[in-house]
Amino acid sequence: MAASRRDDLHSAYWSTLRADNPKAAITLEGANSQSDVEFHVYGVRIAERILGRMERMAPRPFAWSSIIDIGCGVGRFALPMACRFQHVYAVDISADIIEQAKAHCRSAPNISYHVNDGETLKDFPGASIDYAFCGGVLQHIKYFDVIASYFREALRVLRDGGLFAATFQVWQTEDVGSGRLGAKVTAKKLNAALADEPYAIRFLQIDPQDPVPHCFVILEKTARADARDFAAFPVDKGPFRTGVFEDLASCAAMALKWKETPRPVTFFDAG
Ligand SMILES: C[S@@+](CC[C@H](N)C(=O)[O-])C[C@H]1O[C@@H](n2cnc3c(N)ncnc32)[C@H](O)[C@@H]1O
Repeated sequence: MAASRRDDLHSAYWSTLRADNPKAAITLEGANSQSDVEFHVYGVRIAERILGRMERMAPRPFAWSSIIDIGCGVGRFALPMACRFQHVYAVDISADIIEQAKAHCRSAPNISYHVNDGETLKDFPGASIDYAFCGGVLQHIKYFDVIASYFREALRVLRDGGLFAATFQVWQTEDVGSGRLGAKVTAKKLNAALADEPYAIRFLQIDPQDPVPHCFVILEKTARADARDFAAFPVDKGPFRTGVFEDLASCAAMALKWKETPRPVTFFDAG
């Protein structure tokens, strides 16, 4: 029987990594997998950078808002979000990893857990959630149309004025990813994929110190037709991962990687 698209997205590669050590699958530290505390500290620090930036433009206080975490993994970001938001919807393609998230986040009563189809948020009605987040996930999705689907779906489930924060790597060169490497994402592809969507770009950051360049973008759900060109939007060059792990002994693989020359950013390629 032909593999379903969901099976294809939820590849054996991910399943194996999860079965061996779910935290290692998230952090890439492999055998030197992070300690529980350092895993949590890293998650809190990154979440604070993202949420701090969102909060400056927040239409509604986090304390009585909901957020959806797409590709939540074991809840590295969902747990700190649960301390700030009224409710967190934690969504992942993997039922196994959702079980791990329930264990990691067991102290948080305000997280609900949802296994999805790997490309939509169809269990969630339109205009029903205040904020959306997708971090460390899109760079592993092999098809750009699935990446685009998550942008559209996040905008669909958001209430008007809601914010979607996404992070993804921007050095890929292939239109179809392989292994754990996702499809190349460019400004041009995003402009085309989101042409009919109600959004404006509110923040776009690429940290030049990051050897594996990431883009951190915040979109507002709005009908106002300003700031819709990913290629023309001013790039913030502030730190994204710089400064969050250097004092964490178990981030050994990351520290080694940080000595490498940054990979060229492909986000502004013409293709
Ligand atoms: C590297 S982990 C990141 C997890 C979490 N966001 C974090 O940063 O700690 C990637 C997660 O995305 C999930 N994932 C991968 N492809 C997905 C897809 N197509 N739809 C939903 N989740 C996906 C994986 O199961 C995994 O839990």
